[in-house]
Amino acid sequence: MTDNDQQFVAWFRHASPYIHAHHGKTFVISFDGAAVDSANFRHLMHDIALLSNLGIHLVLVHGTRLRIERNLEQGGLAAQQYADGLRITDNTALEHVKSACGQISSEIQALLSMGLSNSPLHAAKIKISSGNFITAKPVGVRHGIDFKYTGEVRRVDNAELQRQLNHGSIVLISPLGYSPSGEIFNLAIEDVATSVAIALKANKWVSLSESTGTLSHSGYLTMQTATQLLAEQSLEADLHRQLKNAIRACENGVERVHFVERQLDGGLLLELFSRDGVGTMLSKDPFENLRQAQIDDVGGIIALIAPLEKAGVLVKRSREKLETEIAYFVVQERDGVIIACAALYPYLDEKMAELACVAVHPRYHGTKRGDALLAFMEQQAQAQQIEHLFVMTTRTAHWFQERGFIAAELEDLPMAKKQLYNYQRQSKIFIKTLSAGL
Ligand SMILES: CC(C)(COP(=O)(O)OP(=O)(O)OC[C@H]1O[C@@H](n2cnc3c(N)ncnc32)[C@H](O)[C@@H]1OP(=O)(O)O)[C@@H](O)C(=O)NCCC(=O)NCCS
Repeated sequence: MTDNDQQFVAWFRHASPYIHAHHGKTFVISFDGAAVDSANFRHLMHDIALLSNLGIHLVLVHGTRLRIERNLEQGGLAAQQYADGLRITDNTALEHVKSACGQISSEIQALLSMGLSNSPLHAAKIKISSGNFITAKPVGVRHGIDFKYTGEVRRVDNAELQRQLNHGSIVLISPLGYSPSGEIFNLAIEDVATSVAIALKANKWVSLSESTGTLSHSGYLTMQTATQLLAEQSLEADLHRQLKNAIRACENGVERVHFVERQLDGGLLLELFSRDGVGTMLSKDPFENLRQAQIDDVGGIIALIAPLEKAGVLVKRSREKLETEIAYFVVQERDGVIIACAALYPYLDEKMAELACVAVHPRYHGTKRGDALLAFMEQQAQAQQIEHLFVMTTRTAHWFQERGFIAAELEDLPMAKKQLYNYQRQSKIFIKTLSAGL
């Protein structure tokens, strides 16, 4: 077996839990006009066909912006006006929006219809459905600016969309909506994607966007950090609008929103089928089933941490010690099994707390549970007016450093903790300042 063969087998095995988990789920995938005109677009369409063949129900929402601008330029027409990041769609612009939608939609359908024997879509038989799924209303006049044919989603024909998905079609939606008065409106793709994802109660909205790296370093956003990011007004206008819609999606029943950099060839597959993904994920409830530990959880905690204690990663705790300290523990439970835990020991006089015994069951690594657990413990600490969180670790230094902990000295710890320092274990000390970190 060559190294390549081994890598392939390892990769396939690694992806299998995700293949299983995504089967039968509904994903909305949106991408702007710039993606359509990029060199990777053909690959993206092939990856989308693959997702469809893996039994994922897909709705694609495409944009048009770059194409319209190019068409206007070629026609010698002036660039269109924007306000609040939205195009002001006059009659001329609407004609260009309609023609760009027609062009892009046909190009996508052509790519998904490929079937040559040497192409990735050989025998794929993809069905595509498009139609008047979106009812729109005009944005109207705002701050004295008439947005003309720029509209907003008023209603989504959920029943029809669902019927098409159940027939195994990929639904393709252009950023156009139709009003009961028979007019056509130009819509923002984020508005369309979010409204469709909410109407379908989609499991995911994946937004293929520009420069998503500015969203987070950890690849994970809680609703709280996402809201703060919006308030800082530091994001570029398109990303700001996407994040705003992502929050709306998660608040209205969409399980997860993923931002994936569209320039990354294969980024969609990496995000969906690899342990850590490559994008940034927002989800409403990272703290799902996270709760204060009870005395009955001691057995489950021991089962989780015993292998880590044996390997010397965590310091050994007796059952008695766990029982007396159970009030400091938080656990995450799934199907009756404790899959993650952490403890917070406060030193209120110093406004400090020790974060200890952080563990995630290996089966659940790669699902950002460690990050969610840390975010939860930070919230718990802040609720107790704790300003600094410290950890003592022998093997996990980098994990904490990458999450805002800074190397510190024994001197920096609360007196009571200093006296208990185990010189044999030689743990390293790290401190995170909470007000700055959250
Ligand atoms: C640390 C821990 C809680 C993180 O759980 P998780 O969120 O499920 O994390 P994952 O295993 O998915 O890893 C997430 C990232 O952290 C990295 N990471 C995991 N363990 C690490 C370690 N010991 N040191 C440095 N980085 C580590 C992973 O490589 C990954 O980074 P990448 O995305 O750049 O590849 C988990 O690895 C664990 O239970 N470790 C054993 C117990 C432990 O060390 N606890 C801390 C002592 S208090």
